[in-house]
Amino acid sequence: MIRSLKSIHLETVSIFLMTLIVSVVSVLALSVAYAQDAAKNSSPIADIVEAWRASPHANGSSEAFTHWNDEGEIPGTCATCHSGIGAQDYMNGPMSTPGVIDHPVALGSTVECAVCHEGGGKTLASVPFPSGVAVDTLGSGAVCAVCHQGRASGKTVDAATLDMDEDTVSADLAFINIHYAAAAASLMGGEAEGGYQYEGKSYKGKFAHVPNLATCTDCHNPHTLEVAQASCTTCHQNISEFTDIRMSAMDFDGDGDTKEGIANPIQTMHEQLDAAIRTYASQVAGSAIVYHSGAYPYFFNDSDGDGAASADEAKFPNRYQTWTPRLLRAAYNYQLVAKDKGIYTHNPHYALQLLYDSLENLSEKADVDMSGLVRP
Ligand code: HEC
Ligand code: HEC
Ligand code: HEC
Ligand code: HEC
Ligand code: HEC
Repeated sequence: MIRSLKSIHLETVSIFLMTLIVSVVSVLALSVAYAQDAAKNSSPIADIVEAWRASPHANGSSEAFTHWNDEGEIPGTCATCHSGIGAQDYMNGPMSTPGVIDHPVALGSTVECAVCHEGGGKTLASVPFPSGVAVDTLGSGAVCAVCHQGRASGKTVDAATLDMDEDTVSADLAFINIHYAAAAASLMGGEAEGGYQYEGKSYKGKFAHVPNLATCTDCHNPHTLEVAQASCTTCHQNISEFTDIRMSAMDFDGDGDTKEGIANPIQTMHEQLDAAIRTYASQVAGSAIVYHSGAYPYFFNDSDGDGAASADEAKFPNRYQTWTPRLLRAAYNYQLVAKDKGIYTHNPHYALQLLYDSLENLSEKADVDMSGLVRP
């Protein structure tokens, strides 16, 4: 009964979708038509269209979809994830370079229905990641991983630092940025090698969690993109925020509190890594560094040495250029954790391992206090 209802709706969607691809104008017109329908009767389709329209995926005026307005088109290195047309071209093609298509795309599209419900996006099973690994265990979350996988991996960092001395500054090095919201790289952990994984260490693979809540679309509604807390509280009781959730027994950050949300030790060790990066940069690389979360390329010369990035410091010409391989690796992992706001739930132990190992590696050369810290 439920099954047949669903297939009828999906047929309706297909017709709707075919019209959708015709032009962006028709997308808008149809959305309005569907929104008006939604007001009259609350059919599931109308509700879905409404939910999608209110979501960040449909926000055509956001920076993520308007960043290229001055250029007039979106380059192929960006269009896979920042344009519905680009995403479709990518998934209908060979996906030979992860996240990249070989042509620019017109402005004006977002993550429309057709990206996930038509063509390559509908049948997608295997997703290539920046590390070169193809992941086929994401189920209906595979399509999400196309865009939420980041743009670099631990291997990118390895390639850039090949045959270099760990602690010698090289003018050939520049900060390597994983990019935003790489939730799929976090979720897949050591399997996708999104993080910089230190030699000789082993890393958690996919955060399997529990069978019904193991992929993107189990937790996130694919249209609103929100996570319903009620789907968590059956097992994780007495929480007011997702960040309160705690199951692990170990005291990773050594503060004596094993009841605080798992997000807490991640945040503590993330702050410790920020301090360790600054200590190493001054003591070993010989030039003070400072991080700014909202200014590209994120790491700058701390000219006044006050440990904070002022507006004057956080400018591209003042970008940090005194990288050693060791510093670059730690900074890469720092940014990975900073840019996935849900990493404490996407793969908490992978995050803790990357933070711990980055701290430990810096402590080999600089005054970094590891006491009390425990690696999961
Ligand atoms: C593999 C997918 C992918 C590729 C390729 C990609 N991005 Fe992104 N980008 C994302 C995602 C996902 C976000 C996160 C948006 C969010 O959650 O707010 C993002 C966010 C951004 C933002 C920030 C928007 C804001 O809210 O401030 C900018 C700017 C941006 N990307 C620029 C670029 C540029 C420039 C390129 C090409 C050189 C590019 N991106 C390529 C996936 C990608
Ligand atoms: C980012 C990807 C994505 C976008 C964009 C998207 N959907 Fe979906 N949609 C999904 C996924 C994933 C499912 C669940 C499929 C499953 O679990 O097998 C789904 C399910 C559905 C269903 C089945 C009913 C249900 O609630 O499970 C319908 C109908 C539907 N989508 C219509 C739409 C329409 C119409 C749009 C555009 C307004 C849209 N979708 C946009 C990913 C997406
Ligand atoms: C075609 C690329 C693409 C696909 C496919 C995609 N996303 Fe996104 N997603 C983005 C971009 C770009 C943004 C930022 C949109 C904005 O800022 O308005 C985003 C935003 C989000 C956000 C909000 C992040 C925030 O900063 O608030 C969530 C959550 C999310 N996506 C989850 C998903 C899930 C779950 C799926 C699969 C069902 C998915 N995405 C599929 C590109 C994509
Ligand atoms: C176990 C449940 C779970 C799974 C599985 C999961 N997420 Fe999340 N995700 C969350 C929670 C909880 C948050 C934090 C949401 C909040 O604070 O509102 C989050 C946050 C996010 C954000 C950041 C939103 C923001 O505000 O910046 C994005 C993007 C995202 N998830 C995408 C994904 C993608 C893509 C996948 C699959 C690769 C995925 N998630 C898998 C539960 C999950
Ligand atoms: C059926 C029970 C169940 C449900 C429902 C459930 N979880 Fe879990 N959760 C677990 C179990 C069991 C673990 C421990 C798994 C492990 O460590 O491998 C866990 C671990 C976690 C952790 C890591 C905690 C830590 O201290 O390591 C987070 C974060 C989390 N869940 C978030 C969520 C979110 C968000 C939801 C709702 C979308 C959710 N869970 C729903 C059972 C559940």
